[in-house]
Amino acid sequence: MSEKLWAGRFKEKTAKIVETFTSSIDVDQRLYAYDIQGSIAHCQTLAKAAIISAEEADELIAGLEKIKQEIDEETLPYSDALEDIHTHIESRLAEIVGKVAHKLHTARSRNDQVALDVRMYLRDQVESITQLLFELQKVLVGLAKRHIETVLPGYTHLQRAQPILLAHHLMAYYEMFSRDSERLQDGLVRINVMPLGSAALAGTPHPIDRKYTAELLGFEKVSANSVDSVSDRDFIIEFLSAAGICMMHLSRLSEELIIWSSAEFGFIELPDAFATGSSIMPQKKNPDVAELIRGKSGRVFGNLMAVLTLMKSLPLSYNRDMQEDKTLLFDATDILTACVEIYIQLLPNIKINKTIMQKAAASGYLNATDMADYLVTKGMPFREAHHCVGQVVSYALGLKKEIHELSIKQLQQHAPQIEDDVFDYLATQQMIDRRTSIGGTATQTVKTAIKAAEQKLKKSTH
Ligand code: ARG
Repeated sequence: MSEKLWAGRFKEKTAKIVETFTSSIDVDQRLYAYDIQGSIAHCQTLAKAAIISAEEADELIAGLEKIKQEIDEETLPYSDALEDIHTHIESRLAEIVGKVAHKLHTARSRNDQVALDVRMYLRDQVESITQLLFELQKVLVGLAKRHIETVLPGYTHLQRAQPILLAHHLMAYYEMFSRDSERLQDGLVRINVMPLGSAALAGTPHPIDRKYTAELLGFEKVSANSVDSVSDRDFIIEFLSAAGICMMHLSRLSEELIIWSSAEFGFIELPDAFATGSSIMPQKKNPDVAELIRGKSGRVFGNLMAVLTLMKSLPLSYNRDMQEDKTLLFDATDILTACVEIYIQLLPNIKINKTIMQKAAASGYLNATDMADYLVTKGMPFREAHHCVGQVVSYALGLKKEIHELSIKQLQQHAPQIEDDVFDYLATQQMIDRRTSIGGTATQTVKTAIKAAEQKLKKSTH
C-alpha cells in the first residue's frame, strides 16, 4: 500500500517494531462505519463551503461507500503499517478515487476524527444497552408478577431479618436497573456533541459550517472549544462510571444467585443450560455464569480507573496515550452488553423453590420485631418491648422453639398483656401485609409498585 500519510518530514522508514507497537487497527477497526459516515458528512460540509466541488464530493462519497461495503464483506486487508482505521480508509480511498482523495482531510485531523467516531459509537452503545436494560426490567417485572405470593427471608448482614415477598426483592433490582438506564441516558447530553472541525487542536482556517456537519450526523451540539474537543475523554469516563455501577448491580444479583443455588440455601436451581459441570466431580452443577458476571464487574471498574489514570496527567491537548481509551471502552461495552443479555435469558428460567424459601422465612425469629410492635399496640413503649422480646427469644432458643411455637402461657410469663390474637399477628403473611408504607413489602403495595413499573415500561420509548 501507499506510503505513510505523514511521511513527508521523515528520512528513515519507521521501524517494524514501532509500527506494530503504535498500531491501533486491531482495536479501532470496529469504528469503521462511524468513520465513513463522518467522512461522508465531512465531504458534504467541504462541498457546501465550496472547498471541493459537488462532483468531487460525489466521487469521494461513492468511494467511501465502496470501502464501507468492502469492510462489511471483510475484503479490505488491515496492516500495522497503516496505523489505524482512519488511515486505512483514507489510503484505500486514494486507491479507488485517485488524487481527489487527498482533499478529504482538509479542515480536519485524526484528532477530531477519532473523537467524532468514539462519540458516535458511544451514542449507539448507550441506545442499545438501554434497550437491553429495558428488556431486563421487563423480565424482572414478569418474574415479580409470578411471585407475588412467594415469601422469603429478607436479610441484613446476611442474617435472616424479616420476611418479604420475592416479588419485592426482585423489584429492588428493577429499581436499580431503572436508575442505571437513566444514568446512561443522562450522559448522552455530553456524548452527543460534534467535535469535527476542531482539526488538530486549534480549529481550521477553512470556512466550514460545523453546525451543518452536526446536523448531518444527528448531533445536538457543536463542541465549543477546539482544544477541549480533541483532548477530553470525560464522556468516556462518565460512561464507564455508569457502566461500572450497572455491573456492580449485576454482580450483586449474581452473588445472590450463587448463594441461593448452594445446598446451604437451596432457594433456587439454575437452568441446566446456564450452568456448568466439574471435570472431576460428577455431581457438580456450578453457577459459573453468575460467577463470571461477578468477576467481569471487576474488569469494568478497572477500566474506569485505567481511563482516569490515563487522562489525569496529560497536558492539553491531544496525546497519543489517549489511543488506549478505546481498548478499555470497547471491553466495557462488550462486557456490559453480554452480561445483561445473559440475565435476560437466564432469569425467566430459574427454578424457584418456594417451599424452601417459605420455610426459611418461618424460622429464625423473623417475627421478633413484629412481636415488639404487637406489644406496642398493647401500650408498651417500643424500647421496653424490644427488651422484652429479646428475653422471649432467649427463652425460646433454650427450648429450641420459635416464638409462635410457645404457648400463650409461656408468652404471658414475659408480658401479661399478650393475648390469643398474638399468633395471628405473628403469622408471616400478616407481617408482610401490614407493611403498607410506600415502598414496603405488603402484597398490595408491591402490586402497586409492579403496576407503576409496567406503566413506566409501556410509556418508555424503547
Ligand atoms: N489512533 C489515534 C487514537 O486512537 C488517533 C490518531 C491520532 N494520532 C495522532 N498521531 N495524532 O487516538
